Amino acid sequence: MKAEPRCRLETLALRKQLIGSSCRLFFPEDPVKITRAKGQYMYDENGNKYLDCINNVAHVGHCHPEVIRAAHQQNQLLNTNSRYLHDNLVDYAQRLSNTLPEKLCTFYFLNSGSEANDLALRLARQYTKHEDVVVIDHAYHGHLTSLIDISPYKFRNLDGQKEWVHVVPLPDTYRGLFREDHKDPASAYASEVKKIIDQGHQKNRKFAAFFAESLPSVAGQIIPPPGYFQKVAEHIHKAGGVFIADEIQVGFGRVGKHFWAFQLQEDFIPDIVTMGKPIGNGHPVSCVATTRDIAEAFSATGVEYFNTFGGNPVSCAIGIAVLDVIEKEQLQDHALQVGSFLMELLHQQKEKHPLIGDVRGAGLFIGVDLVQDQTERSPATKEAELITTRSHGVKRVIATLQGWWVFAK
Ligand SMILES: Cc1ncc(COP(=O)(O)O)c(C=O)c1O
Repeated sequence: MKAEPRCRLETLALRKQLIGSSCRLFFPEDPVKITRAKGQYMYDENGNKYLDCINNVAHVGHCHPEVIRAAHQQNQLLNTNSRYLHDNLVDYAQRLSNTLPEKLCTFYFLNSGSEANDLALRLARQYTKHEDVVVIDHAYHGHLTSLIDISPYKFRNLDGQKEWVHVVPLPDTYRGLFREDHKDPASAYASEVKKIIDQGHQKNRKFAAFFAESLPSVAGQIIPPPGYFQKVAEHIHKAGGVFIADEIQVGFGRVGKHFWAFQLQEDFIPDIVTMGKPIGNGHPVSCVATTRDIAEAFSATGVEYFNTFGGNPVSCAIGIAVLDVIEKEQLQDHALQVGSFLMELLHQQKEKHPLIGDVRGAGLFIGVDLVQDQTERSPATKEAELITTRSHGVKRVIATLQGWWVFAK
């Protein structure tokens, strides 16, 4: 017999008792208990409907019937590890390769964004035989030890910066070192990368990778100036390292114009791409795509790469279904249309409200930068916190606002 659902406060009390307190809740002062979701809507235990704009995972909509059907059909047949031949694994790799530049033709499947980034780091180190990594300030790349080490957003509050990690300024032309009035911000920011590589060389450090989100999201919805990645790639390649593009938040058509966010930087191709979050619409899947040379250098160790769940037939069936839905429902174009309309409305709001310093984005990757002062551009942190964390009475509106990625650094 099915147990009666618990009331919200009882669930909250049990959660406090049983779940580690560092696993935080949204709206901690008045948490929401979501019991079901469909498309863009979530419903709480009392049937209240919320427009879900914070979700960067349910890419094709919550509980999409085609994705669920694919999972169910494959679950009824077989689920096992990737040491057996199975069509789903190769079909899925083929489908992903159709979305990528030709040189990114070798795939590894895993279970989370963190796992993908950790493998990317191993690939880069094995290929280059170097250790050091250049990362962008404020970045977050995952929760594994190796990734906390390359995430300034986290390590600043923990053990601090390791000697093999080098942090470069965020290429932010609104509030950063070089702004929109600079004649060539791409070169100026890229020369900061060269500077840090040169400083590292003076200390006999050797560089394995430049590791960056194609659009820094955790760092504040930043759109790097055109040409920045190409110039950075030149510097890191010259130092013997590779360029790793973390597409975990920003891939799969979210930016509208392109399927991958790195394609916003014209004619730029990274050496390794990592994917996660929306890839399985909520099912734990992730992927690393790389060149044959890098993959072969990884195999040359003779050590097997085995991942119990990565690339299983159910995960691959789900991944394929997500790609089918993106295509059939033209969601990339939808992101472009809806995103452009939203940006237009937000720009209208900016004219009216001095609190809004900047509105920026691509497709449905949009940021609203709140400021205390339009000239100083000092972040309106308190106001942003008020919007994103205080739920009292306006929870449903807040969900909407967070979807616009309201933030202040
Ligand atoms: C840019 C980026 N990379 C990596 C990760 C880690 O992914 P996961 O939480 O699936 O391990 C995240 C998660 O928030 C992320 O935003």
